[in-house]
Amino acid sequence: MSTVLITGASRGIGRATAKAFANSGWDLLLISRSGDDLEKLIKEIDNKKIKIFYKSIDLSNHKEISKGIVELMKNGLVPSVLINNAGVAWTGDLLSMPLEKWEWIMQINLTSIFQICSEVVPLMRKKGGLVINVSSHASRNSFSQWGAYCVSKAALASFTKCLAEEERKNFIRACTLTLGSVNSSLWESDTVGMQFDRDSMLSVDQVACELLHLANQPNNQTVEDLTLMPSAGAF
Ligand SMILES: NC(=O)c1ccc[n+]([C@@H]2O[C@H](COP(=O)([O-])OP(=O)(O)OC[C@H]3O[C@@H](n4cnc5c(N)ncnc54)[C@H](OP(=O)(O)O)[C@@H]3O)[C@@H](O)[C@H]2O)c1
Repeated sequence: MSTVLITGASRGIGRATAKAFANSGWDLLLISRSGDDLEKLIKEIDNKKIKIFYKSIDLSNHKEISKGIVELMKNGLVPSVLINNAGVAWTGDLLSMPLEKWEWIMQINLTSIFQICSEVVPLMRKKGGLVINVSSHASRNSFSQWGAYCVSKAALASFTKCLAEEERKNFIRACTLTLGSVNSSLWESDTVGMQFDRDSMLSVDQVACELLHLANQPNNQTVEDLTLMPSAGAF
């Protein structure tokens, strides 16, 4: 049976993805800050045929990550697919942004992924595997008020390509999933001060379905960068 590790599994895209993989018989390793929400999700999945373990880790705290992953891995499951999905956004003028908010975005959207890959990818090498990093069309555009988010996602796309190149010899594949706007709880975040028509956005289930499709590719093929946009346009 295959195992997937999903970050940001308590809400939004990550939650829908955990359910989609569980329905397809995958074992799950789940991470987010909220252990309560992950426990609720596991109850909802209610599937005795699969194994599910979770760890509450605050990805904004670089000191928690390595220790947290090591503890999660003690359960004995090694993922063949790692989905770095957890992410945050902050809207406001770039140069008025408090330094701590800049560091917070970069830590969660970029540095935590470097840290998680550093712990998990070496374990995946024996059997080979796939890393999917969830990015945004903001990585390729410059949106006023979204500066730090754009920078973090552009850097993540570059990180993914470098990782793919270095790990090719170890049978590790890496893919960036670049998304247009998705109707998720991200739009209710305290740090996002903009609203758009949520009905025209992609649904979290559509993104989950695409992630499952990417995960099920044969080992000798890699979608290196997939862009999924709402047909109505980015916003
Ligand atoms: N929604 C969109 O329009 C859109 C578009 C393009 C790309 N994306 C990307 O898609 C990914 C998922 O976003 P979403 O829309 O599903 O967002 P969401 O609904 O706000 O969910 C974010 C997830 O990340 C987790 N998270 C946030 N801060 C965390 C922290 N400090 N430590 C650990 N986990 C943390 C949250 O769990 P806890 O709060 O429990 O920690 C939650 O499970 C992100 O990378 C986002 O940038 C989203």
